[in-house]
Amino acid sequence: MDDREALLAQARAVAERAFAPYSQFRVGAALKAADGSIYIGCNVESISYGLTVCAERNAIFAAVAAGASRPFVALAVACLDAAGPCMPCGACRQVMVEHLACDAPVYVGGNLTFTAAQLLPHAFKMDPADPD
Ligand code: THU
Repeated sequence: MDDREALLAQARAVAERAFAPYSQFRVGAALKAADGSIYIGCNVESISYGLTVCAERNAIFAAVAAGASRPFVALAVACLDAAGPCMPCGACRQVMVEHLACDAPVYVGGNLTFTAAQLLPHAFKMDPADPD
């Protein structure tokens, strides 16, 4: 199994743990740090819907909290309840731009791979000299 398939498999596995009673839409994300360690996240919904946090941000925040070395080198996203690729939402794209390496692949399923900058060109940054 190649790196991409292995990371997507971990994303699918953690998606099984999603807490998604409102949308019934289960998402998982698996994030790789430079030392090869993997951090996972699933979407966790709230009855106060706006408090829901997506799988991708939960994986990235878990890695930061664990002290994993940034920037991260790959991310896989999988949803169990829809066919085809699982495209990250805009909020997660912003966070990806801030925590993923420029060349880090984002595997979304369906054989599609993007970088964070491809997913969110001209993202908000505090330093205007920071390249896309
Ligand atoms: N969701 C994610 O986990 N990641 C995304 O990038 C898009 C949406 C979740 C949030 C919510 O729990 C459910 O999918 C339906 O929007």
